[in-house]
Amino acid sequence: MKKSNSFCCYCLVMIFFTCFLASRSQLTSDFYKTTCPNVLSIVRKEVQNALKTEMRMAASLLRLHFHDCFVNGCDASILLDGSDGEKFAPPNKNSARGFEVVDRIKSSVESACSGVVSCADILAIAARDSVLLSGGPTWRVPLGRRDGLVANQSGATDGLPSPIEALDKIITKFANVGLNVTDVVSLSGGHTIGQARCITFSNRLSPPDSTMETSMMSDLQTSCPSNSDGNNTVALDRNSIDAFDNHYFQNLVNSKGLLSSDQILFSSDEATTTTKSLVQSYSTNSDLFKADFANSMIKMGNISPLTGSSGEIRKNCRVVNS
Ligand code: HEM
Ligand SMILES: *[C@@H]1O[C@H](CO)[C@@H](O)[C@H](O)[C@H]1NC(C)=O
Ligand SMILES: *[C@@H]1O[C@H](CO)[C@@H](O)[C@H](O)[C@H]1NC(C)=O
Ligand SMILES: *[C@@H]1O[C@H](CO)[C@@H](O)[C@H](O)[C@H]1NC(C)=O
Repeated sequence: MKKSNSFCCYCLVMIFFTCFLASRSQLTSDFYKTTCPNVLSIVRKEVQNALKTEMRMAASLLRLHFHDCFVNGCDASILLDGSDGEKFAPPNKNSARGFEVVDRIKSSVESACSGVVSCADILAIAARDSVLLSGGPTWRVPLGRRDGLVANQSGATDGLPSPIEALDKIITKFANVGLNVTDVVSLSGGHTIGQARCITFSNRLSPPDSTMETSMMSDLQTSCPSNSDGNNTVALDRNSIDAFDNHYFQNLVNSKGLLSSDQILFSSDEATTTTKSLVQSYSTNSDLFKADFANSMIKMGNISPLTGSSGEIRKNCRVVNS
């Protein structure tokens, strides 16, 4: 009697733990501990090399991870070549960059441990390193994602936020992948580094958007003449283009956000009490921004990962294995 009782207890405990483990994300930060122990230092070194050549690459790599995760989850689908690729969806076309750097990272990782590390994990690590090497926060990157077998061009077209859409639409797109309003605001702080093409904010220049500070308005009208092709770029954070700091939020408080989707977090009728107060807090409390950003990056990196035997470990990040 006693024996069967304790056996039942054991059963229940096992069932409990099985359910508990299955219900939480299966990514772990030591996933490659035995199979590719140096993966983190290899990626770090390649990102460092890339930033030595061009500091903007930090921004481009951060954005690749975001654009990957929002479409079919973090599965490296954005890296797939081909005319039906996500690369050619409007949010990415002539815009997403850094693919050659990802190729270089992948080939270094493959030389050390062939066929083990996914391209999706490489994007997640490279994004973290890019933020850290730009002066931002760091965090332990959950790993164990596998690579998807398909690109989803329409998913990229419909699922990625646009710089000219309404705030409630942007919030819905984040909610669709399990991210909340805090994530919208903290992750928008990614715009503390990198550049944007004139075409992505020209809607604000004529007629002049009254929520833009006037000297910035005339600077931008000079940088982005209305007869140009819209391919010129300017800093997303004109205060400190390459530094991962809270100036992006100070800019918003001072009517110096670049994109419409930036400034509406604070200035428009659409701005909510929550978005306004978060912008205000981050603008004065850099540590809070950095902590929330790191937390939101981990959440974003957890969007629908392929694990176990789903997907594959691509040999070449641009094509599915044959
Ligand atoms: C909230 C909705 C968002 C919208 C509407 C948006 C829109 C944009 C646009 C229009 C650009 C310029 C693209 C171009 O010039 O072609 C851009 C650049 C960028 N975005 Fe976002 N973005 C959003 C959220 C995010 C998030 C969540 C991150 C990352 C955490 C991010 C990181 C970046 C970075 C780093 C760049 C500069 C890339 C470079 O210089 O290569 N953005 N974004
Ligand atoms: C593409 O993305 C859309 C929107 O997220 C989704 O409904 C659809 O199932 C995806 N298609 C593929 C082939 O993954
Ligand atoms: C969003 O989720 C985080 C947990 O990841 C939580 O701390 C935060 O309060 C939530 N924000 C809102 C506005 O619900
Ligand atoms: C911007 O440059 C790309 C090539 O990088 C070119 O294909 C595109 O036509 C240019 N845009 C415009 C509006 O001319």
